[in-house]
Amino acid sequence: MSLKLGRMNFKRCLVYSFGIFVMIFIFLYLVYFRHGAPDTILAANGRKNSYLQEVLSRDTDDDVTRSARAWQKFIDDNKYVSIGDVYNDCDDENRYWVGKSVLLPDPLRGGVTSKTFINFTLENEITEGSADFFIKVSYGSKDLYENEWDFCTMEDDEDEDERFVFCPYEPKKYSWVIERKIPGYLPNGKYYAKAWITDAEEKVFMCAEANFVL
Ligand SMILES: *[C@@H]1O[C@H](CO)[C@@H](O)[C@H](O)[C@H]1NC(C)=O
Repeated sequence: MSLKLGRMNFKRCLVYSFGIFVMIFIFLYLVYFRHGAPDTILAANGRKNSYLQEVLSRDTDDDVTRSARAWQKFIDDNKYVSIGDVYNDCDDENRYWVGKSVLLPDPLRGGVTSKTFINFTLENEITEGSADFFIKVSYGSKDLYENEWDFCTMEDDEDEDERFVFCPYEPKKYSWVIERKIPGYLPNGKYYAKAWITDAEEKVFMCAEANFVL
């Protein structure tokens, strides 16, 4: 009799523990991982960075101001929510725009996706070993992820239809549109990502920065 009761209690205890575990899990998911509706995410994003604001307020008519105006017009005309900028350099005070990243609802898979538009004139051929790709991601004030690859082979492990990079690239003008899903499993918060590409002389020739809030 006492043995039977013990077993009953054990079973009940297991069910309770499991219930509490599920409740904690659901709570953590709702607080930290459940993203708002795509519209809510879009509404929280789209602020101009301070460099863009400063350049747009200039009175000059050079490559830098022209590129800022053209890309801002592109964002405005399409009513896009901008989350990032693509430049010809990372640090130069006078870097100019070669593209923009935007955030869009993802009707196919749900959630949100990013699209990066780049119009760029490549000066030197890119072949295996001649360009490196670097990426850094931070979450809030914490460094989250950092990596570097040979540009030409960085996507060798990807599925063929997910791939974007196909070397070699001859020097000419390119118009690229790169779509990348923002994964649903990312915790809510502020993200900052920076990616850049260097040539054979290790000089940066393209640099992208993105800020987004989930
Ligand atoms: C980028 O290039 C495409 C195709 O050549 C062109 O239609 C578009 O206006 C360009 N965008 C900007 C902002 O210059």
